[in-house]
Amino acid sequence: MNTIDTTAGAVAERADDQEVGLTFPPSFVIGSATAAYQIEGAVDADGRGPSIWDTFSAKPGAITNGDTGEIADDHYHRVEADLDLMASLGLDAYRFSISWPRIQASGSGPANERGLDFYSRLVDGLIARGIRPIATLYHWDLPQALEDRGGWTNRETAYRFAEYAEIVGTALGDRVPVWTTLNEPWCSAFLGYGSGAHAPGRTDPDAALRAAHHLNLAHGLAVAALRRVVPADAEVSVTLNFHVLRGADASSPEARRRIDALANRSFTGPMLHGVYPEDLLQDTADVTDWSFVLPGDLEIIHQPLDFLGVNYYSTATVRMWDGVSVRQRADGHKDVGGSPWPGSEHVEFLVQDPPYTAMGWNIAPDGLEELLLSLTREFPALPLMITENGAAFADEIVGGRVRDVARLDYLRRHFAAAHRAIERGVDLRGYLVWSLLDNFEWGYGYTKRFGIVHVDYETQERTVKDSGRWLARLIEGRSIPH
Ligand code: FCB
Repeated sequence: MNTIDTTAGAVAERADDQEVGLTFPPSFVIGSATAAYQIEGAVDADGRGPSIWDTFSAKPGAITNGDTGEIADDHYHRVEADLDLMASLGLDAYRFSISWPRIQASGSGPANERGLDFYSRLVDGLIARGIRPIATLYHWDLPQALEDRGGWTNRETAYRFAEYAEIVGTALGDRVPVWTTLNEPWCSAFLGYGSGAHAPGRTDPDAALRAAHHLNLAHGLAVAALRRVVPADAEVSVTLNFHVLRGADASSPEARRRIDALANRSFTGPMLHGVYPEDLLQDTADVTDWSFVLPGDLEIIHQPLDFLGVNYYSTATVRMWDGVSVRQRADGHKDVGGSPWPGSEHVEFLVQDPPYTAMGWNIAPDGLEELLLSLTREFPALPLMITENGAAFADEIVGGRVRDVARLDYLRRHFAAAHRAIERGVDLRGYLVWSLLDNFEWGYGYTKRFGIVHVDYETQERTVKDSGRWLARLIEGRSIPH
């Protein structure tokens, strides 16, 4: 059993001027990412059915300001202009997600051709502009009809997901070279069914673990389904959000082990080692007996992958709560009452050292380097790709320009960290910035802007921020610009 070893200070600080000019090989894929519910809008268009995020965002108090994805960036209707925008930035690749309820309104049955057609046009538009499509099958927008039957707590959902994967793979497999099954299943399971901060908003610790297993199963079944229908040279992966953990005192190794088990190894264990970590089963024994893991499941989940998608934003510092002091839970996830840490609620997440982004997340590029190195140590044969990294800041548009110096600085430091990881032997294939456009940031609605392109939600006008221009120069020159 390996824990992700992210000892603070293991990596020396580098001065900014040493970052500028670092070069990436031509084969290194640099691009940007989005997700369907966060940008598309058009929730009733062309036969789309409701998703759990439509239902959840309609609940009073669930989302800041009562925001919903009903219109979002109206990308569904503006796809041609958005493709031109991507071309103007020179993106090597664009990672998008496919909305399951556009393809199967109620999560099962025959494909909705109009839904498939939207993604087919998107993919053709990318290829026509020389941009590599990277498709994610599930970025959290489960068809509501499946949630009504238990959602991810119901094993059947995993089988429905495999059918959906096969439909999409059959329709787009001739043109999409890179596939991701799930985006951040930890969030789907533990924020969706544990803390309740995400759709469907349930707060049941047993349900969270059950959901995690069924998401793992869905991943395995979908990998197999995709491999049956997409060309042999297509790449298949999954994207995980790793919690990079640091310690504070003598109790921290135990706290790190527990959170690493729940956040990281509950997915890497079955997916990449073919087994649930023994300590995870023990830590959660009071919550569930894991009887939902059926014989043969681990073989299904444990599929060869072509690379591992890594989402990284910040670090967390943990220790065991002493039972006396005022307990902190600064884990970076919206606190709405429920716990995303079943069986380990007595772990305390300490407030991180500054600087912070507008999410309150600490800026720690060294955490990215350490994460990539630790994953390479644990899975030496598995290439990695940064499928999300980026930052929210309170941008201002002045005279038609967004001088987002802080985001640009964040990206420069993280690209430099990725470069150091490559130099130290990590097989890192690419880096996709979150996000192309300002968008619906889940529980925070439109209050958090992650885009390298500003969106005026009144007019839908797009304005490339300084960070977007900077990324375009990086892609063009393959070297980190000022
Ligand atoms: C990740 C999500 C993505 C976005 C970023 C900020 O957890 O995958 O959709 O919300 O965080």
